[in-house]
Amino acid sequence: MAGDLVLLTGSTGFLGYIILTELLKHGYRVRAAVRSQTKAKRVLAGPSIKALAPTDEQLSFVTVPDMTAPGAYDDAVQGVTYIIHSASPIPSFGDGEPPAQDQLEESLVKQALKGALGMLESAHAKAGGSVRRVVMTSSTVAVVPFEVYMGQGTEPDRVWTSEDRIPVAPGPYGFEFQAYSAGKAAVLNASEEFVRTRGTAFDIVSITPSWIFGRDELVTDAGGMRAGSTNSVLLGVVLGVKNDAPYGGNAVYGPDVAKAHVLSLDPVVKGNQSFVLNSMMDWEDAIAIAKKYYPDAFAAGKLREDGKQPTMALKWDASKAKRQLGLELAPFDTMVKEVVGQYLELLAAEEGSK
Ligand SMILES: NC(=O)c1ccc[n+]([C@@H]2O[C@H](COP(=O)([O-])OP(=O)(O)OC[C@H]3O[C@@H](n4cnc5c(N)ncnc54)[C@H](OP(=O)(O)O)[C@@H]3O)[C@@H](O)[C@H]2O)c1
Repeated sequence: MAGDLVLLTGSTGFLGYIILTELLKHGYRVRAAVRSQTKAKRVLAGPSIKALAPTDEQLSFVTVPDMTAPGAYDDAVQGVTYIIHSASPIPSFGDGEPPAQDQLEESLVKQALKGALGMLESAHAKAGGSVRRVVMTSSTVAVVPFEVYMGQGTEPDRVWTSEDRIPVAPGPYGFEFQAYSAGKAAVLNASEEFVRTRGTAFDIVSITPSWIFGRDELVTDAGGMRAGSTNSVLLGVVLGVKNDAPYGGNAVYGPDVAKAHVLSLDPVVKGNQSFVLNSMMDWEDAIAIAKKYYPDAFAAGKLREDGKQPTMALKWDASKAKRQLGLELAPFDTMVKEVVGQYLELLAAEEGSK
């Protein structure tokens, strides 16, 4: 409840930053674990955080340079009631060189797992029983076999749910998204087992979002929006990127995912469960939606109508989040409007400064 101290990991990233603002709006005190103080300064410079103007009591930072180091979170967990673990390696999405193929398992599976299990160990053994609940950011890729995303073994009428679980696909992995998916499954399965078998004072809630889109206040230049995040994949569709491989037609709005994390801290929400968050969408609908809101940008050649991104329809039942958390999920229209709008704002600011 308001005033309780929450340890948040990943606040220097797209989703974690939105979770941070949502926690502060709900009156929680937040200790944000960051890899460096420079990154903490970037968070403090974000418009929503500046507007909230948290005191040092409301928002503090603890430096954890390497979450995979033994005991990395031992100090960070002292005195906290809740933990939200959103930090995770994610695919590079065109930002720089991806890890070499023989490094995929290490960088996207083992590091994710070590970080999550190390955090749970600190919460269990070093926090003196103060931690009541841990909320983990999972993903729909953690509960659907990767082959399904590759268009193999799809059962067209199958409806995936918050209760689905899969074994971790063994390496070696061919590419980043495959290793990332295995890493998310490994973390989900191992963290649930940790709580089941270790007699923890805390329970666990996993939030299971599909593709997340929305404004990313930590990105401050248009080039930064064209690569390196899931938003960049959506933006690519209206920038004329042509991709032959279908992607799951599943998306959720960033602020809705953040709300799900914060609402899950409420003791009235039962522990040891998870919540799928998803709305169905068709990737190429992004073009018509963007055209509705930003026709001039198409006329000026800043946005294009010839992007290609086939959609694979995967059905999810996200009704549990509505029933238990009271969450009404925003439609794809909202996500496209916001992501494309931010891109055009940044582009206009850059053009204006020339
Ligand atoms: N975006 C999506 O569509 C999507 C969908 C489903 C689930 N998720 C999950 O949502 C969470 C956040 O993703 P995002 O899209 O916001 O990614 P992001 O912007 O890349 O943020 C990732 C965060 O994790 C931190 N991090 C990464 N590797 C780390 C490590 N080795 N040690 C400590 N911190 C580390 C990053 O810290 P630095 O800033 O220091 O790099 C950053 O704060 C992840 O758990 C991801 O799997 C995302």
